[in-house]
This record gives sequence, C-alpha cells and structure tokens, in this order.
Amino acid sequence: MAYETILVEIEEGIATITLNRPEVLNALNSQVFNELGEAAAQLTADQSVRAVIITGGEKVFAAGADIKQMASATAVEVSSSVRPSMIAFNRIENMPKPVIAAIAGYALGGGCELTLTADVRIAAENAQLGFPEIKLGILPGGGGTQRLPRLIGPGKAKELIFSGDFIPAEEALRIGLVNKVVPAGQLLAEARKMAGKFAARGAVAVQMAKSCINEGLQMDLDRGLQYEHKCFSLLFATEDQKEGMQAFVEKRKPNFKGK
Ligand code: HXC
Repeated sequence: MAYETILVEIEEGIATITLNRPEVLNALNSQVFNELGEAAAQLTADQSVRAVIITGGEKVFAAGADIKQMASATAVEVSSSVRPSMIAFNRIENMPKPVIAAIAGYALGGGCELTLTADVRIAAENAQLGFPEIKLGILPGGGGTQRLPRLIGPGKAKELIFSGDFIPAEEALRIGLVNKVVPAGQLLAEARKMAGKFAARGAVAVQMAKSCINEGLQMDLDRGLQYEHKCFSLLFATEDQKEGMQAFVEKRKPNFKGK
C-alpha cells in the first residue's frame, strides 16, 4: 500500500515506520493516524517481519496531534476523529511482534503517546519528551493518562501531565519513560541492533512473552500467573522450543524458525 505521511521500509525482517511530515514537526493528523493503523495491520500480517521500529528520523519524533486540525473541532467531531488514533495505537500496542520507538528531538503529546504503544523506547540525547496538552486546555487523549502511569507510576505521570513540562532524554531515562539514551547519530543503528536481537529469538516465544506482559497488566496476579502458565506450557508444542533446548545441549546457537 502507498502511504503519503509515513514511510514503511522492510529490511532483513525488520520494518521501519518513519513519520514523514517534517514541515510541521511530524504533527499527527487524521491521515497519519489512518496510515499508521493500515501499516500496523500490514506489518502484523506480514510473517517475514519479526520486529518493528517507529521513528520520526534524526531531528524530531512528533510534536503531537495536529493542533490546526483540532483547533475549531466540536466535541462531536473530536469524538469521531479521535477514533483513528485509538485504532492505530491499539493495533501498534497489540502487534504480535516487538515494537521499538526510536525518539529524536520532540516527542510531545500524541507523539509521546505513540511512543507509549511501543514495547521499548530508545531516545537520542537530543530528545525532549512531554505532554503539553494541559497548556492547550485539553488532556492527553491518546492513551497518555492510562499508559503513562502504568509505565512510570501515577506520581510522576501526574507531574508531567499537570505541568505540561518537557523533560530531556536523561530525565526520561531516570524515571523509566525510556529504556536507553544514545548519541543522536547512533539512534537508528541502536534501534536496528536491538530489533535484530529480538528478531533472532524464537518469534512465537517473543509473541507470547509480549502477550503475557500486556494481557497480564490487565489482570490480577493470580489470573496473570495462570495465563503465563498456559502460554509457557503451549510453547512446548513449538519446534523452536525443541531447537532452543537441543542447541543448548549441543553447545551451538539455536536456529529458530518461528514455529
Ligand atoms: C500542528 C504544528 C504542531 C502541532 C508544530 N507545528 N507542532 N502544527 N500541530 N502539534 C508546526 C508549527 O505550526 C510550525 O508551522 C512548524 O510546525 C514548526 O514549529 P515551530 O513552533 O515554529 O517550531 P519551534 O519554535 O522549534 O517549536 C517547536 C515546538 C512547538 C516546541 C514543538 O512547535 C510546539 O509547542 N508545538 C506544539 C506541541 C504541542 O502542544 N503538542 C500537543 C498537541 S495536542 P508553521 O507553518 O507555523 O511554520 C495532542 C493531543 C493528542 O497531541 C490527542 C490524541 C491523539
């Protein structure tokens, strides 16, 4: 499928989605959300894709939802126009493969919320993250009030959301908002390196581990442990489990096939 506001490249099993509206700092309008949703569905279905990177390139991740598009919207219009963002974000979060957000420059509002749908966030040293919606008289409506406190705890989430302040990459690392900070010029290489590592593991095991963590976060501990137990047992029906353990016994590297 041809996209206009994002670029999608696939190389050696790793897909890279690049937001591509540089003239407005990659502001996310409804077309971007629709295309992100389409791309997430396409990459979910493509069995050759084993890991996904979402980035805005080396200058800016995304300065949030498109304020000019939202400025004169009514509540009814917003209620229906926010739907594409929810569809896109849910699809990305639930992709049965690892998703890495590679963040340079500003990741604000809906842009930062997009990074929260990824499994791992890598930030360049020049990254600035924040939720400035409160300064516009609104709140983070792309999952920020829900995913952020689950990731960094309610206290820090409230401070960020109530203040609208931007925080630099190192502070984001300190509070657990990003996993890693790297020099700006190495951002995409680092993201590819991590994606390559995930992609080399057994794809079914990675998929189930992601599901255990994501689904488990919606359950109480007992149900989560039961779900984990079922997934763990099920993995013994895969060729990858036989191969992984056989390779250990034979002191060689496993050759996983994702089945
Ligand atoms: C539309 C935007 C934009 C945005 C920047 N631009 N952010 N357009 N929506 N969110 C446009 C500017 O209008 C300008 O275009 C061009 O991008 C460059 O931006 P400047 O402001 O000139 O750049 P700079 O001075 O470097 O300031 C960068 C900035 C600032 C600090 C990131 O642009 C800014 O504060 N942007 C808004 C950030 C924000 O409030 N985000 C939250 C949005 S609400 P022109 O044509 O004027 O030159 C949100 C809700 C999510 O995300 C809801 C759920 C999906």
